[in-house]
Amino acid sequence: MTHKVVVTRGVFDDVLDRLRAGATVVDNQSDVQLDAGELAARAADADALVCALTDRVDAALLERCPRLKVVANIAVGHNNIDLAACSARRVMATNTPGVLDETTADFAWALMLGAARRVTEAERYLRDGRWTGWQLKQLLGTDVHHATLGIIGMGRIGQAIARRALGFSMQVLYCNRSRLDEATERSLNARWVARDELLAAADFVVLMVPYSPATHHLIGAAELARMKPGAILVNTARGGVVDDRALVEALRQRTIAGAGIDVFEGEPAFDRDFLELDNVVLAPHIASSSVATRRAMAMLAARNALAALAGERPPNLLNPDAFNL
Ligand code: GLV
Repeated sequence: MTHKVVVTRGVFDDVLDRLRAGATVVDNQSDVQLDAGELAARAADADALVCALTDRVDAALLERCPRLKVVANIAVGHNNIDLAACSARRVMATNTPGVLDETTADFAWALMLGAARRVTEAERYLRDGRWTGWQLKQLLGTDVHHATLGIIGMGRIGQAIARRALGFSMQVLYCNRSRLDEATERSLNARWVARDELLAAADFVVLMVPYSPATHHLIGAAELARMKPGAILVNTARGGVVDDRALVEALRQRTIAGAGIDVFEGEPAFDRDFLELDNVVLAPHIASSSVATRRAMAMLAARNALAALAGERPPNLLNPDAFNL
């Protein structure tokens, strides 16, 4: 009997072809986000779910999908999946680590540079017809080169962000649960510090931690108050890591100089007050969105799903206890 794979969002055709070679596929190429009821209805007799961070995979869903063997997330972050509930039902869960590190690091830099040099604000100024001529003091920004970069969350993506800082002659401070080995620290010119020290010293603070109850509102009013008045905050991690309301206030009061934000609490809804602020660069959760990377992510999710269906251990298994030999 062929397996049934439900793909919850629009993906590249070659990803569907790859899945179709090993299974019957129900796709969603119209890419309309499925609500919990629709998702459960589609997945009710599925053996595999290839899903996205917009899909909530919890005990209630799993309850309604008794055949499910694997949930393959097209994302490295997996806070949309209740791993304990998956393990309890022996459903394997997988993610897509490794393939998006460099692209996500590029985008963190795009936000840093964009916010520091006021790129989107300058474009709005130009498009609005407000530019009447060159001025010495026009749209003055902040230098990135030779500044201090603070990275909170120094996993693969954090390190990719730090590598780029070498080209900008920056000093790098980082906090992470565990310290990097000395050789890596040396190669990145990076120093492990306590979070408060990083917040007080960094000109740019980039967040690259996974979302969990432990990182909920990791940056709130108190942390923003610790940052330098000229500092810029970049969130390419997850919505909820920053208290967005507190950030709006800090940007409004100029407690910090600016921000670059790719992820929001409760997205796709977000605090509309951000739209009133010129000192923030906003993006709709696209840090990994290059053609090559999004294709690689979806392909890796397909590979994980097919491996699990073939009875093999998927390459990116998150809950090894669900792997039933
Ligand atoms: C994107 O946010 C991801 O987790 O891959």
